[in-house]
Amino acid sequence: MVFDTQAINKQRQNLADYDEIWVFGYGSLIYKVDFDYIECESAHILGYERRFWQGSHDHRGSIASPGRVLTLVDIDNARCFGKAFKVEREIFDHLDHREKNGYLRHQVDIHFPDKRIVKGLVYIASPDNAAYLGEANIKDITKQIFNSSGPSGSNRDYVYQLADALRHFNEIDEHVFQIELALKQYSINANL
Ligand code: SIN
Repeated sequence: MVFDTQAINKQRQNLADYDEIWVFGYGSLIYKVDFDYIECESAHILGYERRFWQGSHDHRGSIASPGRVLTLVDIDNARCFGKAFKVEREIFDHLDHREKNGYLRHQVDIHFPDKRIVKGLVYIASPDNAAYLGEANIKDITKQIFNSSGPSGSNRDYVYQLADALRHFNEIDEHVFQIELALKQYSINANL
């Protein structure tokens, strides 16, 4: 698979078939909302958990030194909190560009706190994409994130901003909080 998924994403769903389109964000889409939306609500999807297993060569790292950003993995009975945005179709040009480094749009059921469920789209980077880095131990993930930065800022801030956003919504994500803590400890030791 090529790095740039924009053309593939355009073939995956016919957005004209949707009366209204929702996109579910679970990573930077939670805290960096650089697009217009019609509605935004807290929401969750089922059967997925976040992992820092996707390489970032374009936002939080470089080709020579990729950062690590989030993707979703399938886990039975898991619940992943995020934000759902109702958007105009044209917004997907921007989102497809932003998420082009390996992410494909998948259809998903988005659950709202009032029990409503809508069909929406979520960007997931699967193991067959060229930028995928995969599982690693906490120490190695932490070191890589600590040392990476790119046009969208430091890889550390990607983690810190997401962790802060999750706390704001009283949401716990063990993986994200574990990496956040390890990064803070690593930076103390790096400054000694
Ligand atoms: C998302 O936020 O939903 C996708 C992953 C990312 O851009 O961080």
